[in-house]
Amino acid sequence: EKGGYDYFMLKEIAEQPKAVADTLLGRIDGSGSLTLDEVRIPPGVLREIDKVVIVACGTAFHAGMIAKYAIEHWTRLPCEVELASEFRYRDPILDAQTLVIAISQSGETMDTLMALRHAREQGSKVLAICNTNGSTIPRESDAVLYTHAGPEVAVASTKAFLTQLVACYLVALYLGQVRGTKWGDEIRAVIRDLSSIAGAVERVLGTMEPVRELARTLASKKTVLFLGRHVGYPVALEGALKLKELAYMHAEGFAAGELKHGPIALIEEDLPVVVVVPSPRGRSVLHDKIVSNIQEIRARGARTIVIAEEGDEAVVPYADHLVRIPATPTLLQPLVATVPLQVFACELATARGNEVDQPRNLAKSVTVE
Ligand code: F6R
Repeated sequence: EKGGYDYFMLKEIAEQPKAVADTLLGRIDGSGSLTLDEVRIPPGVLREIDKVVIVACGTAFHAGMIAKYAIEHWTRLPCEVELASEFRYRDPILDAQTLVIAISQSGETMDTLMALRHAREQGSKVLAICNTNGSTIPRESDAVLYTHAGPEVAVASTKAFLTQLVACYLVALYLGQVRGTKWGDEIRAVIRDLSSIAGAVERVLGTMEPVRELARTLASKKTVLFLGRHVGYPVALEGALKLKELAYMHAEGFAAGELKHGPIALIEEDLPVVVVVPSPRGRSVLHDKIVSNIQEIRARGARTIVIAEEGDEAVVPYADHLVRIPATPTLLQPLVATVPLQVFACELATARGNEVDQPRNLAKSVTVE
């Protein structure tokens, strides 16, 4: 049932191109518009929304952080992302004009369920993004957009995360389409790029051997840091979470701009630091800033592991290890940038002799608060 793979996690990492394609299937029509029939919140109601709040836990929370960039950019609606476990305890400001999006692979996460119940009590509409048909979270929501990742068995989430991202982009683009936005042309272009993104994920998977080799050489390290900016920041957090869960190593993700506000003090000789580099096209200011971050940490002895777009030559002199990913629109980069981090964590865990599919102390769905 592991389809020839040693672990479910490896199988599920390999299934990502299909999971991504399946999640897009039937949701983009021939003219390049979105048809999200499952979102049964009438367009009229969606036009009245004045704020989006996303609630989720763990990996799903990282998908939500990325969704915020997409939703705010394409719809100009303010969007907050909150850890579901913190949400209702701070008396959040919610009303009928708030769209709450609850993201959950299992659909049974108690923290997320309690957050959405609280939101509905305040009169907000709740849209679930969920991978498990008929589970509690979609049943208690006003609408649902299912991710089509198929069953995810490994405790550490991989293909569910990529499909959560796809669903979040679809919701962001759909909100943009329904509400009308000045980004109409960009939205059409992104929908086109989304349609071919599964192929880009496939290409990344085909180039992972050097990442595996590198991971094996780091098995005795105590700490790995992850840096990113813009949508690369949640990707860095996700890379660190995977490493904690699987390799039981100290791993932290930072927004690269925060380095000088503290974390740079952690940099020491031979410390592995993974840097997710934004596209040099798109928001090129961020690209140049992160290149100077890489220079700074390398000058202090860090071993830099740089994840950068094909054709990005500026990073080459400062990368001890360079992992190439295909060029994508800025907001879609997490779909390709996360994959090497999943492979990295999985391989490090194996090298350390850990149980990949069943990390210690963790359960696949967390049904207690
Ligand atoms: C990380 C992981 C967890 C889950 C979190 C939410 O690899 O698996 O962080 O993402 O417990 O679970 P769901 O998505 O089922 O609500």
